[in-house]
Amino acid sequence: MIVLGIETSCDETGVALYAADSGLLGHALYSQVDLHARYGGVVPELASRDHVRKLLPLVRQVIEISEVKEKDIGGVAYTAGPGLVGALLVGATTGRSLAWTWGVPAIGIHHMEGHLLAPMLEPNPPDFPFLALLVSGGHSLLVEVEGIGDYRVLGDSVDDAVGEAFDKTATLLGLSYPGGPALAALALQGDATRYRFPRPMTDRPGLDFSFSGLKTFARNTWLESGQREQDRADIARAFEEAVVDTLVIKCRRALAQTGLKTLVIAGGVGANRRLRERLGELMQAEGGRACYPRLEFCTDNGAMIAYAGYRRLQAGQHESLSIKAMPRWSLQELQAV
Ligand code: KG4
Ligand code: ZN
Repeated sequence: MIVLGIETSCDETGVALYAADSGLLGHALYSQVDLHARYGGVVPELASRDHVRKLLPLVRQVIEISEVKEKDIGGVAYTAGPGLVGALLVGATTGRSLAWTWGVPAIGIHHMEGHLLAPMLEPNPPDFPFLALLVSGGHSLLVEVEGIGDYRVLGDSVDDAVGEAFDKTATLLGLSYPGGPALAALALQGDATRYRFPRPMTDRPGLDFSFSGLKTFARNTWLESGQREQDRADIARAFEEAVVDTLVIKCRRALAQTGLKTLVIAGGVGANRRLRERLGELMQAEGGRACYPRLEFCTDNGAMIAYAGYRRLQAGQHESLSIKAMPRWSLQELQAV
């Protein structure tokens, strides 16, 4: 079975083809970063319109580079949520309609399930059960994963998601959108010993996260500093260290609580090198294993949706002839495979 995957939940149009017997056949991504940069964040209406412009040409491109015939595509998977409703509707309508035209089943995929399964596209993929740290622009989740669709959320963010905190802190330090990668790059030049930021919610039991206070702490530190280049880098470094350290502490706790020995790190912030390094060290100390997707599959992409769709369609799941778009949708509501 060959599955077409479509991702349009936010500001990236992603398309991929995944085959049961040979894995990923081809994928393409169009990022809207330049479109939203001058507004300092994603403008939902502009995002939807750009998906409309880019999606079908990308589908054609991926079919061509994969050297697949349309008649050989056996199913279509699209991101049904969570995300921006207008953006989701573009992928959902296009995906559902293509499936109808081709006479094949379609399935709406949960965006975070896509992220969570992305390491399955790599050599030596993780075995179930595992613990997943999902850190993106919209979510910070610790999930106990028993199998596909069998998810227990152990920790969630009570305010800003990790990526959101990275982006907002980057903006207040004067870095351009999207701030996460820019802040991480600047942190490389920072002195880790100059400032010490708090590690939020680590002084009490539990696995939830709160990152909005850290952003305020960064703002105050910046305003009280001399606002020179080195101050900016030192604050970026202290912020990154605090976030990474907090995530490491919560992962260690969740591993102890569940007895799990495999940790999957996924979502856009999973591309952060310092986080990958520290979690790698943690898993080595725990005698376990850390699994990440390749960097380009940490951030939004069509490949993770094609893969999740393939697993569900292969198990016989599919949607009726209706278009599914769920801007808010809990991972725990998913049907197990
Ligand atoms: O998963 P993703 O592409 O989109 C969502 O589903 O939200 O995640 C995007 C988020 C953004 O907040 C971005 O700033 C952050 O991931 N991000 C990073 C890095 N690369 C992307 N944050 C920190 N360090 C990075 N290297
Ligand atoms: Zn994402």
